[in-house]
Amino acid sequence: MWNFPQILDQARNDLASADDASSLEACRLKYLGKKGLVPAIFDSLSSASPEDKPTIGKGANDLRVLVTALLKEKTKALGALGGGTPCARPVDLTMPGVGPALGHRHVLTQTMTEICDVFERMGFVVVESPEIETEFNNFTGLNIPIDHPSRDAFDTFYLEANDPAAKGRNLLLRSHTSPGQVRVMRDHQPPLAVIIPGRVYRPDAGDASHSFMFHQVEGLLVDKDVKFSDLKGLLSEFCRRFFGPQVKMRFRPHFFPFTEPSAEVDISADIFKGTLRKPWLEILGCGMVNPKVFEAAGYPCLSGRQAAGQYTGLAFGMGVERMAMLKYGIKDIRLFYENDVRFLKQF
Ligand code: DAH
Repeated sequence: MWNFPQILDQARNDLASADDASSLEACRLKYLGKKGLVPAIFDSLSSASPEDKPTIGKGANDLRVLVTALLKEKTKALGALGGGTPCARPVDLTMPGVGPALGHRHVLTQTMTEICDVFERMGFVVVESPEIETEFNNFTGLNIPIDHPSRDAFDTFYLEANDPAAKGRNLLLRSHTSPGQVRVMRDHQPPLAVIIPGRVYRPDAGDASHSFMFHQVEGLLVDKDVKFSDLKGLLSEFCRRFFGPQVKMRFRPHFFPFTEPSAEVDISADIFKGTLRKPWLEILGCGMVNPKVFEAAGYPCLSGRQAAGQYTGLAFGMGVERMAMLKYGIKDIRLFYENDVRFLKQF
């Protein structure tokens, strides 16, 4: 016959002195394992006398319940001490740790921030303008005539059916950041100098140099007697700071409806060490704000012949992807959006 009070006492002592994962496991095997005491006691039932059977059955059951409960309690207590489930292998505290992989800002965000920083140091203020625009702000207010090809549904993402009765209030995804000029001038009186960075959208088929979404940075400065020489000085200094002091640039006459006169700025390809085939690369559009744009924004007395002491303005706009591609020698615009870490972590 089994001495149950003694066996239960022994089990309590064994479990009380178990203080790590392996000694707990040894206790479990000793009592509950296949060859442990509890199965052995149950086995002995078959040869026990009928009057002993209830005592033996109850004793074996009590022992199983007690050991199970104590094991559970002990495992939990050990886990809390070690900060997790007790592990069978000892922890090697001298092993070097595994540091978390640090991310960083996307190369386009870096480029956009860098462009804005240069102008902020010259006194410009960065402002945001919405990506959903009215047809008026995106085109009409910028002196872009109703029959201009860029207003075609093939070149702009319209959000609603183009209803002529809406008088320019049709909504669209802005196709450039220039509508930010209209908003700033509507809300603020001159003098002002702002930089407007952000996403723009055009329904272009994607290839190495086109994407339906890309980024631009717009600039607008309005003050008394702003001259074309101010525009040249400002953008020359920007190019030197962004591309380096050795950059060569040229202002090539161009046409934009919202500036008059207008120009495109090219930089010489020789700073890129023969990686590009063309001798000059176009980087931005610019010009003196067309008086018609001032008029549409509600600025008084700015149209007509310019006189000394009158407010005039300069504006420019550049593509962020293009600036980053030139600066870092990136050949395909799609790399910016694929989010392949092998590409991104180079910058
Ligand atoms: N909005 C023009 C574009 O997307 C870029 C541009 C040209 C902006 C001349 C200007 C500017 O502010 O004066 O192609």
